[in-house]
Amino acid sequence: MTARYAEGRNGNYPGKGIGQEVGVAILGKGTVGSEVLRLISEFSENLENRIGGPIAVRGVAVSDVSKHQGSPGLENLQLTDDARSLIDRDDVEVVVELIGGIDYPRELVLQALNAGKSVVTANKALVAAHADELSRAANEAGVDLYYEAAVAAAIPVVGMLRRSLAGDQIQRISGIVNGTTNFILDAMATTGMSYEDALAEATRLGYAEADPTADVEGHDAASKAAILASMGFHTRVTYDDVYCEGITKITADDIAAARQSNETIKLLAICERLVDDTGATTGVNARVHPALVPNDHPLASVDKSYNAIFVEAEAAGRLMFYGNGAGGAPTASAVLGDLVGAARNKIHGGRAPADNPYADYPVVEFGEVLTRYHINMTVNDRVGVLSDLAREFAEAGVSLSAVRQEESGDGAHLIVVTHEAAEKDLRRIVENLSEHRDVQAVDSVIRLDA
Ligand code: HSE
Repeated sequence: MTARYAEGRNGNYPGKGIGQEVGVAILGKGTVGSEVLRLISEFSENLENRIGGPIAVRGVAVSDVSKHQGSPGLENLQLTDDARSLIDRDDVEVVVELIGGIDYPRELVLQALNAGKSVVTANKALVAAHADELSRAANEAGVDLYYEAAVAAAIPVVGMLRRSLAGDQIQRISGIVNGTTNFILDAMATTGMSYEDALAEATRLGYAEADPTADVEGHDAASKAAILASMGFHTRVTYDDVYCEGITKITADDIAAARQSNETIKLLAICERLVDDTGATTGVNARVHPALVPNDHPLASVDKSYNAIFVEAEAAGRLMFYGNGAGGAPTASAVLGDLVGAARNKIHGGRAPADNPYADYPVVEFGEVLTRYHINMTVNDRVGVLSDLAREFAEAGVSLSAVRQEESGDGAHLIVVTHEAAEKDLRRIVENLSEHRDVQAVDSVIRLDA
């Protein structure tokens, strides 16, 4: 392989020296921003000892100052609606971006990086869309860009890929990376709660995004999948590269059927390195969709709003990281860890490991990737229907691993589980089945893909 080094400024990154203050600007004071400010104040002595100098919050940028006047914990802090001027202050060295959205935070983060300030962000949508541009700006300025909180909040998965597994070859990452959808699926399965009630409860508990569409349609998980795939495979994978299907079509019947077959439905983010027969990498794929996970797989027992990331690496083997992937305090914990890293580098000098997408593998469309389908359909209950439908699969070259028939009213329920086949072939079979004269309805299609 030709050497392709991470771009960056050569040279030393000197520190300002032990005992000096590190000036910090906080952009945004929502659920996470408030927790970050609380923890900076509560843990100040410990943070100072770990960093080598005190953190000094120079100001907090909010969209409407009048809304926050008099809020507890803000007595000695300067509130401003002028984020740009706050970033530009000479005594601000680290900018913590906790605003959300993409375009406006992108401008602010670029302004900070270009001005030589390190940035900590929890903004997965921003990183998943613009990591390339932001990393280049950080490299050119010789500053840090940290985003641990962008994926699974308190679970140190970005650091794990960036540092701990930096010497290994990742083969696959399968994760439950959205707390809201895990909460909803778990509540539907264990308490019989309706989808709507479970979503309302997840929103009340602060797991859901401002617009929960991003959670239930899988967009939030897709951003995280893009980040995980980029880090794990040293290849730039963006949000637009990720196939995405949410949980809105999952019904109580699907959940009951999964239970019957000793499986649990989870919304998975899957990042996969694809190899040919010789073991050479041919590309990478990242996708988000509901999947049937066998109950003896470690991801099946991840309940409530918990997240878990299951990593398979060549030398390390199988690893699982589990914990709080959403909520104010867990996200603030990850932000603080990054802030300590960025501030420590300001004091002692040096830089955090930067993104290094040197491998630059092709990103392969999901249609070309192998997966397995579990198809549930209502069919006409007549002699020979089973062999007719089995022919649809055989003609497409897809073999079946299980077929089960259950009688019901006017028709019969047919449950078909395929062996591995290309996603595009499986999709075509489902299209053909939907139009087959003996198929009354394709009731559900869920992948077995843990
Ligand atoms: N809405 C997200 C979740 C928050 O439910 O996991 C963390 O990104």
